[in-house]
Amino acid sequence: MRREAFESSELIKTEADLESFRLKYLGRKSALNQLLRSLKDLPEAERKQAAPAAQKLKKELEETVSFKKKEFLTEINESAVDITRPGLKPRPGHLHPLTQVEDEIKKIFSSLNFGIVEGSEIETERYNFDALNMPANHPAREMQDTFWLKERSKSGDERLLRTQTSAVQVRYMESHEPPFQIIAPGKVFRYEATDASHETNFYQVEGLMVGRNVNLANLKFIVSEFFKKLFGPDTEFRFRPSYFPFTEPSLEVDIRLKTDKKGNANLKTLAQSRRSEWLEVMGAGMVHPRVFEAAHYNPRDWQGFAFGVSLDRLTMIKYGIPDIRLFHSGDLRFINQF
Ligand code: PHE
Repeated sequence: MRREAFESSELIKTEADLESFRLKYLGRKSALNQLLRSLKDLPEAERKQAAPAAQKLKKELEETVSFKKKEFLTEINESAVDITRPGLKPRPGHLHPLTQVEDEIKKIFSSLNFGIVEGSEIETERYNFDALNMPANHPAREMQDTFWLKERSKSGDERLLRTQTSAVQVRYMESHEPPFQIIAPGKVFRYEATDASHETNFYQVEGLMVGRNVNLANLKFIVSEFFKKLFGPDTEFRFRPSYFPFTEPSLEVDIRLKTDKKGNANLKTLAQSRRSEWLEVMGAGMVHPRVFEAAHYNPRDWQGFAFGVSLDRLTMIKYGIPDIRLFHSGDLRFINQF
């Protein structure tokens, strides 16, 4: 019985085989069980010999069954985890296109020896408007519809979400001695209807350089260097007279792109079509004497220039993005293209 059992245990291939093996050799009606039951009928001398042998065989067969069972279990587990399959590639995140262009702009201005400062998104009426020669009834205020805050500042000033990074100008001058040159990137807010080129929340980069003899030629040089580094060395410029209450003279800068920028395939046509147009990209001018006065600088001692660009607009031009609202859409199909 032992030899037969162990020979047939070698032939077990499936779980069903194992079960019929178990029934055949260990089941209630199995020959072994019958033998065990009949032991009591044997004469004592024979029983003393046969009983331990039969018990031993039973134990061995039980062990064989449980061993095979375990084997089947691990086989199933192994087939559930296919260790030869290629793994899932971890996808690292990346910076938002606005952040990428902001970083690039910071690098460019650092290389031109400009410091980088940060202003406050919540501002007072004074820094955002009054100190910039935009008193309460100034018509230019209407160009920048404002989110006002309910609570005034500690000093009793009206508070608002800044409509322009120009608010940094007097704030910075009040606590720093010229000469200096800085840029101040950050969020601005305007209470207006949104469309493809207007957002209630967008980004600007402010520039401010003050010294004894800082002049319009310096402004043109810095601005040209900046755009050539951002958009390519063949970028064309146009400086147009304009008006801002806080600069005099004031001007706006248009550029025309020449160099081939590698754009994303879908957006390429748009980026390329922009290469032939003049694009308005910057407001700028020489700091108005009234602004220096607000900062307690003597306008006879100091001269300076200031400029402001929309980071969103520069990023749209750089990549040929047709709609400013895409930046805040959170749509991965958009974000993953950069
Ligand atoms: N703050 C102006 C705007 O938001 C831009 C500007 C900045 C113009 C500095 C001149 C000087 O339109």
